Amino acid sequence: MSAAKPIARVPLPVCDHKPAPYDGPGRDEILTLRREYLNPGVLMYYKEPLCIVEGHMQYLWDETGKQYLDAIAGIVTVSVGHCHPKITERIREQVGRLVHATTIYLHPTVVLFAKELARRMPQDSGLKSTYFTSSGSEANDLAILMARLHTGRSQVLSLRNAYHGGSSATMALTAVGTWKYPIADPSGTKHIVPGYCYRCPFGLEYPSCDLKCATSAEDVIRYETSGEIAAFIAEPIQGVGGTVTPPPEYFQIVYDIVRKHGGLCIADEVQSGFGRTGEHYWGFENWGVTPDLVVMAKGIGNGAPLGACTTRPEIAQTMSSRLHFNTFGGNPVSMIQGLAVLEIIDDENIQQNAREVGGYLKQGLLELQEKHALIGEVRGLGLMLGVELVKDRQTKEPATAEAADLVEKCKARGLLLGKGGLYGNVIRIKPPMCITKSDCDFLVDCLDACLESSEPC
Ligand SMILES: Cc1ncc(COP(=O)(O)O)c(C=O)c1O
Repeated sequence: MSAAKPIARVPLPVCDHKPAPYDGPGRDEILTLRREYLNPGVLMYYKEPLCIVEGHMQYLWDETGKQYLDAIAGIVTVSVGHCHPKITERIREQVGRLVHATTIYLHPTVVLFAKELARRMPQDSGLKSTYFTSSGSEANDLAILMARLHTGRSQVLSLRNAYHGGSSATMALTAVGTWKYPIADPSGTKHIVPGYCYRCPFGLEYPSCDLKCATSAEDVIRYETSGEIAAFIAEPIQGVGGTVTPPPEYFQIVYDIVRKHGGLCIADEVQSGFGRTGEHYWGFENWGVTPDLVVMAKGIGNGAPLGACTTRPEIAQTMSSRLHFNTFGGNPVSMIQGLAVLEIIDDENIQQNAREVGGYLKQGLLELQEKHALIGEVRGLGLMLGVELVKDRQTKEPATAEAADLVEKCKARGLLLGKGGLYGNVIRIKPPMCITKSDCDFLVDCLDACLESSEPC
């Protein structure tokens, strides 16, 4: 390890926005009510759960008025900034006019939004027909349904360590031993090896490995399925799975194999879409592939309950063979919010910011890696970054407790991070994409200070 530069202590940037005084129920009361009345399965972070009552752009405030830098964006959902003023204004206008009528009637917002999404898909891809939902789980479920209807087949391939949602159908896409509940799964999903070079299950190294992770998909299809598959679904960079960023050729190889066997390719862009990976608008574009179906949620609505699946008309056509209906999908308030998000991404150079500020942040994290042995790998693209913590760089034993400790310590200093990976040892950094370099200086310094105070953990 080279001698690392000392990193100065950097304060949390001061924000012009002043949160309103909070006069609602106290944190302890909310926690008691939550424990009594909410399903305990509803995920909560931190030993001392945080009560967030206000947000502005990349910052959040708790009930005491303490400011935080939000480096996980409500699990990668707030794309252009909390309560972005332009979006808030549009929502107010729409809520005063019409909140709900359903897509059984015509309304301008839903068609205009679908047209704008189609305009942002790769040219000549034919990806233009959208079905709106209220969540990513529903949109993934719909993508699988369309693939099955279109191909007349049922078997689906996904990645080991995948996360595509919390519904029964999407949980089936993740492998046993990950986030799947121990219930019977009749869906017949088979799992292929992701391009996770840091933990290659074959013990190989890129590029001498010849991408065995990708080519082994052929064997999975041949020996574990009937040989006829409906679809392959994957995130271009695995989010919950720990910012797993595959080698550049990975998806081209897998898509070719899947298509050779008659399957359709589904890109889950719920986390990686809308410019987050910096160089490209869509995560899949980083790998030179074009999917048959694109699933979107989270960042598409900057916090609106909004999901979507866009595909080619001939695949979408399959949905018209039965009555199919989604009560809230396409509602005017979510559509207005989605339209405003697309506009802001363009007008405020959000993708460019993800590229530039994300590159700056990654460099800062790589410098931290030189200094702290606990950091095994820094990976990701744009503002979709991950820092994998290991107890030992040789054995790569996951530093799970240390990751949990680090996230707690950073919170105390005003930095909110995410955690992921199968072992819970990957720090996930996916902030609202309006984040600045000053915020990144604070972020890196905060991680540095907390890693120092915890070494050896
Ligand atoms: C990649 C991915 N797909 C789908 C989903 C499910 O989205 P939702 O929680 O809106 O159902 C998530 C949620 O975290 C996700 O990360």
